[in-house]
Amino acid sequence: MSKFSVAVLFVLALTLAATAAAADRKIVVGFSQIGAESAWRTAETNSIKSEAEKQGVELVFSDAQQKQENQIKAVRNFITMGVDVIGLAPVVESGWEPVLREAKEAGIPVILVDRKVDADESLYDSYLGPNVIEEGRNAARWLAKKMHGKATIVELQGTVGAAPTIERKKGFAEILANYPDMKIIKSQSGDFTRAKGNEVMEQWVKAGDFANVNALYAHNDDMALGAIQALEASGFKPGKDIVIVSIDGVRDAFVAMVEGKLNCTVECNPLLGPQFFKLAKMAAAGETIPRWEESHEDVYDETTAKEVLPTRLY
Ligand code: AHR
Repeated sequence: MSKFSVAVLFVLALTLAATAAAADRKIVVGFSQIGAESAWRTAETNSIKSEAEKQGVELVFSDAQQKQENQIKAVRNFITMGVDVIGLAPVVESGWEPVLREAKEAGIPVILVDRKVDADESLYDSYLGPNVIEEGRNAARWLAKKMHGKATIVELQGTVGAAPTIERKKGFAEILANYPDMKIIKSQSGDFTRAKGNEVMEQWVKAGDFANVNALYAHNDDMALGAIQALEASGFKPGKDIVIVSIDGVRDAFVAMVEGKLNCTVECNPLLGPQFFKLAKMAAAGETIPRWEESHEDVYDETTAKEVLPTRLY
């Protein structure tokens, strides 16, 4: 064998070894989670963590405890570490451009999970999540049907400045515009938490101008469940005196529907782990990923809650 052939074989062997090592290498994914404000969020966290384990991905998970500044720090840390892909569930919509630009400059793909950002679209690779405006529309459509187009509504909004707060409000208002006898008379943030939903509802009831209210729209189930407790404590019959529609589809919402205290929940699917890591692996391999990977969702109400409850996974 000539010296040249030996050299060619040597280079080939090295290339094959390097390719095999790259294929064997675990991809590293940094995930910046908002916190644990709701049962829904906890279900999403569990889905991400368990799927990482199942798929043999090295996950660097960071809980921001509801603070954007913590999320920005986490993303910067992922960039310094040189992770392969970054997953970001952004607490609020605005203020992300600088850090997303840093990720872009470092060549690290970013996948937004369950919430969108208000930033140049070229700064992230994909949004994995639902059509949130449609969730708001579906809540309003259901309520309009139930109330025969006539309702005095109070609205518990999610976290101020968060994409689902803005979009769920927008979608609901869009449909309400077709029903002149359906009006929102009070609207306040309950920060997507049970405790805040309870507190705000208690204040409203105590303020004494609640006599005409006959419907509640809550941007998530946890706030609705907190509000239900406050209504009961004040002698109201939630689900009867006040018709309640909320969003998420967590198990406790189904339990409340079976008990007749909640009337409808519009599903928002948190079990995004499998779709997220499918996208992450594609992005890490340099493949183009869809700009929007939409998650599938349904609407459930009191009429089917009992039958559906045993099948709920979160
Ligand atoms: O972004 C999704 C929303 O965030 C869920 O509806 C809510 O429960 C969560 O906290």
